[in-house]
Order: sequence, then structure tokens, then C-alpha cells
Amino acid sequence: MSDPTRIPQHVAIIMDGNGRWAEQRGRERYEGHAAGVEPVRASLRAAARRGVKYLTLYAFSTENWGRPEKEVDALMELFCQSVVNETPELIRQGVEVRMIGDRSRFSEKVQRYLEEVERRTAGGATLTLILALNYSSRSEITRAVRRIAERVEAGELAAGGITEETIDRALDTARVPDPDLIVRTSGERRLSNFLLWQASYAELYFPEVLWPDFTEEEFDRALDEYARRERRFGLVK
Ligand code: IPE
Ligand code: IPE
Ligand code: MG
Repeated sequence: MSDPTRIPQHVAIIMDGNGRWAEQRGRERYEGHAAGVEPVRASLRAAARRGVKYLTLYAFSTENWGRPEKEVDALMELFCQSVVNETPELIRQGVEVRMIGDRSRFSEKVQRYLEEVERRTAGGATLTLILALNYSSRSEITRAVRRIAERVEAGELAAGGITEETIDRALDTARVPDPDLIVRTSGERRLSNFLLWQASYAELYFPEVLWPDFTEEEFDRALDEYARRERRFGLVK
């Protein structure tokens, strides 16, 4: 049964299609990334308006380092600029920013900017914005397994005492509920190393729109689609 009042607590978005958007206009790929900032603002507004509590955005994958240096540099510059420019508005809206991914690979400058936005937005109560930066699910799971193994080695934990909760808590997403809805724009239908553990029972939605063209209305459409889904979690109706 469709229930339009059913709102996902956690929406995660794979923001895809910036390069194609730029190519279609005969522009450079980085211009597509720059055009992808406004849809982030629109998604935040829509999420806050609809009462979504967690919004995760896949902004840079571990594999994305393999792109041309010029594009990677432009993306790093865009992250720094955006977090600085947007921080006052994020604070005003009560948005708390968190990162997932391995930030140790970023330059000191980028790391400083990211720490600064986390520090200044801490305690925001409207919603939590989680930025997946240098994120890949396999890397996250590998780092989590290492942390758990260290506790076993130290004698703090027995191997038989490892539960799903132990793993949940060792992931970058500790204390964040699993995504209810994962959206990937641009018509591609794959997860590309995003939240593989956490996506176990997520609803998936693949609109054709390219990320720079994503609007508040598109976000609302995704929530409408979610409200029509019947989640069963392996049980019978
Ligand atoms: C998504 O857009 C943004 C990042 C991966 C950083 P793309 O850059 O992947 O755009 P397409 O898929 O080439 O169109
Ligand atoms: C996934 O998009 C990563 C982000 C959106 C940040 P990609 O464009 O990198 O993924 P593939 O290469 O199409 O799988
Ligand atoms: Mg892509």
C-alpha cells in the first residue's frame, strides 16, 4: 500500500552524470562538477522540508583518484570552496556535517577545511549531512576489520564475540541508521562501491536525470517512489 506520509529516515545519493552534463554542452568536465553544487543545496532544502534526518552524498570515490589530474584537482578545489562558502548557511539551517571515507589521503589543506566544517556545524539538529569523500565500501570494511582484529589481538574481544553490531560500530557510519533509500542519478544502475554493507535492505531508485539537473522536485519524486515501495525485510506480509 502506498503511504505518502512514509518518509525515509536516511536517503543516500550517488550524484552521477556531471561529466555527461558538461560534455552535452561542449564544456569541460569540471564545469559539470561546479554545476553539481546547486543540486546539493536543493537536496538539503528538500530533505529538511520533508523531515529526512540523514542525507548521505557520494562525492568522491576511492577509484576517482584515477581520473585525470586536472579533474581531481578541480574537484578538491571545489570541495574546499564549497565547504567554506556553505558553512554559514548550513549552521543557519541546523545541518550537522560528517564525513565518511579515508580522509588521510587528502592534502593537509583539504583535511583542515573538512575538520573546520565538522567542528562548526557540530550539534546541528535539523539533519545530518554525511559526505562520502575518498569513500569506497570495500576500503571502509577493510579498515573496520583491521580495527576489530586489533581489539582481538589486544585481548579485548573474543573472535566468537564478534556480532553484526560489532561490525556496524567499526564502520565509518557508526551510529547512523542504514539508508532506507539509495538514489543514483544519470540512469546508471549500479552501486559503484557505495554502502555495500549498509544497503542490505535499502530501496534503490535510478532516475534518468543528470546530477546538475537534479532539483527539489526530483527529490520529492524520489520520496514519492519510496512511499509506493513495500519493504518486507525477508518476512511475509
Ligand atoms: C559524478 O559525475 C561526480 C563524481 C564522480 C565526482 P561523473 O563525473 O561521474 O559524471 P559522468 O558519469 O562522467 O557523466
Ligand atoms: C560513483 O560514480 C562515484 C560518485 C558519484 C562520487 P562514478 O561515475 O565514479 O562510478 P562508475 O565509474 O560509473 O561506476
Ligand atoms: Mg559517473
